[in-house]
Amino acid sequence: MSTLQKLQSYAGNRKALFPVSMALSALAALAGLLPYILIWLIVRELFEAGGNGGELEQRIIPLAWQAVGAAVGSVAIYFAALWSSHLAAFRVESNIRREAMRKIVAMPLGFFDGHTSGRIRKIIDDNASTTHSFLAHQLPDLAATALVPVAVIALVLAFDWRLSIACLVPVIIGIAFMSFAMGENGRQFMRDYMNSLEEMNTEAVEYVRGIPVVKVFQQTIFSFKNFHRSIMNYNRLVLQYTLMWEKPMSAYTVFINSFVFFLAPVAILLTGYTGNYAAVLLDFFLFVLITPVFSGCVMKSMYLFQAMDLAGQAVDRIESLTAYKPLTIPVKPQPMNGYDIRFQNVSFTYPGMTKKALDDVTFHVTQGETVALVGASGSGKTTVARLVARFWEASEGQVCTGGVDVNEINPDELMQSVSFVFQNTRLFKTTLLENIRYGNPGATQEEVENAVDAAQCRDIVNRQPLGLNARIGAEGTYLSGGEQQRILLARALLKNAPIVILDEATAFADPESEHLIYKAFSTLSEGKTTLMIAHRLTSVTGADRILVLDNGRIAESGTHEELLNQNGMYLKMWNEYQQSVQWTLRKEVCHA
Ligand SMILES: Nc1ncnc2c1ncn2[C@@H]1O[C@H](COP(=O)(O)OP(=O)(O)OP(=O)(O)O)[C@@H](O)[C@H]1O
Ligand SMILES: [Mg+2]
Repeated sequence: MSTLQKLQSYAGNRKALFPVSMALSALAALAGLLPYILIWLIVRELFEAGGNGGELEQRIIPLAWQAVGAAVGSVAIYFAALWSSHLAAFRVESNIRREAMRKIVAMPLGFFDGHTSGRIRKIIDDNASTTHSFLAHQLPDLAATALVPVAVIALVLAFDWRLSIACLVPVIIGIAFMSFAMGENGRQFMRDYMNSLEEMNTEAVEYVRGIPVVKVFQQTIFSFKNFHRSIMNYNRLVLQYTLMWEKPMSAYTVFINSFVFFLAPVAILLTGYTGNYAAVLLDFFLFVLITPVFSGCVMKSMYLFQAMDLAGQAVDRIESLTAYKPLTIPVKPQPMNGYDIRFQNVSFTYPGMTKKALDDVTFHVTQGETVALVGASGSGKTTVARLVARFWEASEGQVCTGGVDVNEINPDELMQSVSFVFQNTRLFKTTLLENIRYGNPGATQEEVENAVDAAQCRDIVNRQPLGLNARIGAEGTYLSGGEQQRILLARALLKNAPIVILDEATAFADPESEHLIYKAFSTLSEGKTTLMIAHRLTSVTGADRILVLDNGRIAESGTHEELLNQNGMYLKMWNEYQQSVQWTLRKEVCHA
C-alpha cells in the first residue's frame, strides 16, 4: 500500500475530501496564473496605444479588474481547498490515535511490561501529529505543483520558444542539483535522522530517570554511554545532513535566480533579429514575471515528497508499536470447571527474543493446594505466573485452569478467578481506600476494614491522619516497599478469588514487614489454589509442594523435606540461604 493510500485509509467518511481539496487547489493555482497574463495584456495595451488617453483607459480598466478578480478568486478557491484538507487531516489524526488505542487495549497484558505508558503516549501522539502538516497543508498542493509547471511551459512556449529555452535551462539545471540530493539517498538519510532523534529522546528520559544514581555514585553524563552515543550519533547525522546540502543548495540558488542573465542576451539577440523592440520587450516582461512561479512549484513538490515520506514513517512507527498479536477472544468460551492449574509441556519465548523463557514445563496444582516456585533470578518464575493469568499466550503446550485451556476461557471470567500480587505492581495515586477497593469495587466499608486487618495493614492505616482516606503520594503519604505489598495483599483479599498468585518482591529489608506479609499471605491463601514465588526460602517450607526452576525448566519438585534429601539444587540453595541468614544475624549481634 502506498503512503497516500495508507493515510487515506484512516480518513473514514471524509476520504473524498482529499481529491476534492487537490482539485480545488489545482484550480486555484491555474486561476493564479490569470493575473500574470492580464497584466501582460495591460502592458501590451500601454505599449501599443502610444498615449491615446480616453480609449486606452476604457480598455485597460476592465483588464485590471479582471486581474484583481482572478487573484481574489484564486485565494478564495485555495481557502476552500485548505478547509477540506484540514477537515480530512484532523479526522485522519484522530482515527490514527483511536485505532492505536483500540489495538493497545486488545494487547496481551504482558505488552505493558515492556512499554511504559509515557513511551506509548509519546509514540502515538507525536507521530499522529506528524501526519497533519503533510495532509492538511502539503497534499492539496500536490495536484497544483504537478499541473502548474506544465501550464507555465505550455504558456511560455506559446509566446516564444527561444525565450522559453533561455529561461527554463538554468531553472532545470538548478532543480537537477536538488533532486540529486533528494533521491533515495536523501530519503534513507531522513529515516536515519528521525530514528536517531527518537533514540536520543528515549535515552534522555533514561538519563533523567537515572540522575539520582548518577549523583550518588558521583558519575558524569559519560557514564550513560547510550545517551552519550545517541547524542554523538545525532550530531554526526545533522552535520552530515547540513554538509550534504551545501553544494546542491548553493548551485540551486545560483541557477534558479540567474535566469534573467540567460534571458537578457537572448532577448537582445532577438531584437536584432526581428527588429521589433516592443514585441520582444513585452515577451521579456512576461517571462521575468512567470518563471519564478514555475521554479517555486517545482521546489514545493520536492518538499512535498519529503513530507509524505515523514508522514508515512510516522504511521509505520505507530503500526509497528501495535504490531503484537492481539489477545484472541474465544468465540465459544468454555466455563471453568473448578480451580486447579495445569501446565502441560509449556514452552514460551518472549516476543522478539530467541531464548526460551520456559522450556517444556509440566506441573499440576490441585484445587486448594499451595505450590511454591523457587529458582535463580531469571529462571522463569514470574513468566509462569504471567502465563496463568494469560498475560502472554504459551508458544507451545497448554495452560489450563479449572480443566479448560486459558485461551478458551472468557477473559473476564479468568480475571475474576485469579488474584495476583506481582513483583512490580504499583499503587495508584489515590486514596488507600480506593486502592484496596480496586479488588472489589462493590465492597462495603466493613469488608474493606476486614481486609485491612487480615492483610496486617492496620498499623499503616492508623498512622495516617486521614486513615483510609489518605492519598498515596500526597501530604507526605509515602509507603515503603513492604507496606505497599501489604496494601496490595489487602486488595487481593478483598477480591477473594479462588486462585491466588503471589510474586514476592525481593526488596523488603525489614524483617518485621516480611513477617507481617507472610502472615497476611497465609490468610489470603487459606483454602485457595495458590502459586507462590518466594525469594526467602523460609516462606516456602510450609508449601504443599516446591518446584525448583532452572533456566526455564523444572529441575526438581517435592516437599521441603523431600527436596533436602534429594541432595540437589534445592539443598544447595537452602544451604546458601541459611548462610546468608546467619551472616545477617551475626552482623546484628556484632552491632548489639
Ligand atoms: N518482558 C520481557 N521481554 C523479554 N524477555 C523477558 C521479559 N520478561 C522476562 N524476560 C526474560 O525471561 C527470562 C525469565 O524471566 P522471569 O522474569 O520469569 O524470571 P524470574 O525467575 O521471575 O526472575 P526474578 O527472580 O529476578 O524475578 C529472563 O531471561 C528474562 O530476561
Ligand atoms: Mg520474577
